[in-house]
Amino acid sequence: MGEYALANIYQYKETAQKSAELLGVIGDIMNVRKRGEKPLAYVHTYGCQQNVSDSEKIKGMLYTAGFEFTEDRNEADFILFNTCAVREHAEDRVFGNVGALKNIKRRHPSVIIALCGCMMEQKSVSDRIRKSYPFVNLVFGTHSISRFPQLLFEVLVNSKKIIDNDVDDNTIYEDIPTLRDKSFKGFIPIMYGCDNFCTYCIVPYVRGRERSRESAAIIDEVKSMVAAGYKEITLLGQNVNSYGKGLKEDITLSQLLQRIDEIEGDYILRFMTSHPKDCTHELIDTIANSKHISKHLHLPFQSGSSRILKKMNRRYTREKYLDIIAYAKEKIEGLSLTSDVIVGFPGETYEDFLETLSLVKEVEFTSLYTFIYSRRPGTPAAELPDVVTDEEKGKWFTELLKTQEAIAAKRCASMVGSVERVLVEEVNEKYGLLSGRTSGNIIVEAQGDESLIGTFRDVKITEARNWILRGEFI
Ligand code: SAH
Ligand code: SF4
Ligand code: F3S
Repeated sequence: MGEYALANIYQYKETAQKSAELLGVIGDIMNVRKRGEKPLAYVHTYGCQQNVSDSEKIKGMLYTAGFEFTEDRNEADFILFNTCAVREHAEDRVFGNVGALKNIKRRHPSVIIALCGCMMEQKSVSDRIRKSYPFVNLVFGTHSISRFPQLLFEVLVNSKKIIDNDVDDNTIYEDIPTLRDKSFKGFIPIMYGCDNFCTYCIVPYVRGRERSRESAAIIDEVKSMVAAGYKEITLLGQNVNSYGKGLKEDITLSQLLQRIDEIEGDYILRFMTSHPKDCTHELIDTIANSKHISKHLHLPFQSGSSRILKKMNRRYTREKYLDIIAYAKEKIEGLSLTSDVIVGFPGETYEDFLETLSLVKEVEFTSLYTFIYSRRPGTPAAELPDVVTDEEKGKWFTELLKTQEAIAAKRCASMVGSVERVLVEEVNEKYGLLSGRTSGNIIVEAQGDESLIGTFRDVKITEARNWILRGEFI
């Protein structure tokens, strides 16, 4: 079990009090039902940081109800999978793993099995769960997290299956307790949902409309994390560049970052994800002039072909993307760039793919998150003819990976001999080395004592291993 730090116990609102009371009752019921000394919860998270952050809230509620946490689902009294719908492969994995829970339920009929997250917002999925996985007790969507205490309470008291994914509640609840996975780095969602409707993407359908948190709540949360000793804080949103839209206060992401940057302390501030269509010069200047913001920009380009970008509804061209990159490289010293890219979007030709490849060579990203297009029923792109074979797409994909590996290796090799400030994060079990990240998000490994975890250290880089660096603590 990781280290847990409990933050933000209920602040206000009647609903919160109701939830807090319910959590007490749930705790009492679970104390009677539990198999061991304490009721144990197993929470597994698939997907992106947004899901990790949601799981931290659910764990916060479970902790408040008196649960402890286990990594072993066999001994758990409550099992939860927080699921991701972004690609078909992700969904297949979840169905496989849920199927395997049947045996646990057979051996321990009292265990409560729950599924939540993006996948569960799709009716086709909840119908399949209802029909084919009768041992699942509770299904709830991303809009129902604040209702989790009520839902669990109903499952426990009425012993009936509950599916709660029909809600379109876009309220932001500030009153949910958070149990962070780590005590030195953590996420803060600054907005929820997405309004961009990129034609390949399921996220807007499962996460709902874009909505921002009030800046005061975010700033308070940053302050409390810095005061609690957090060294890295990542602001989250599907498109953080449109932060502030729809709020009563007049504020942009750049202004929010500037206000946070004024908070004193030894910490690094990250944010993701930026959308190129809204990535302003003001934002880049803010990064360049800040004290705490990492010199790192994650700016997904998805495709290097303007023709494909148009079909993706990305609302920028290759040229516009390269203009932003050029400005960022000019202004931010030591800038590290990362990105997301999709290979094999319907209608993409090899010529389009070559434009992706040439963009990758031109920009020289530190690292890339590469995906083969996955058809998502319900999205516009799912209706487009897709004639390139999987085998062909696989070849393009390999070509892209090789190109990026060579770029990353060259970059890492050029860093040998330099001294990097690294936030030490964990032990790499395989090599028995400590592992951490630079401000530019490059992984660095070095021999050292576990007590260094959660601290910033200077490391002299001695060796480059493809996209990972090795070095010695100074
Ligand atoms: N909001 C972020 C990230 C969303 S999901 C953004 O806009 O950048 C993370 C990544 O998954 C996307 O950037 C995209 O590269 C990839 N992705 C999304 N839908 C996909 C699909 N249907 N097939 C393959 N990759 C996909
Ligand atoms: Fe999906 Fe596009 Fe929204 Fe990102 S910006 S979550 S890719 S729709
Ligand atoms: Fe997956 Fe949902 Fe994130 S679909 S990528 S977990 S927003």
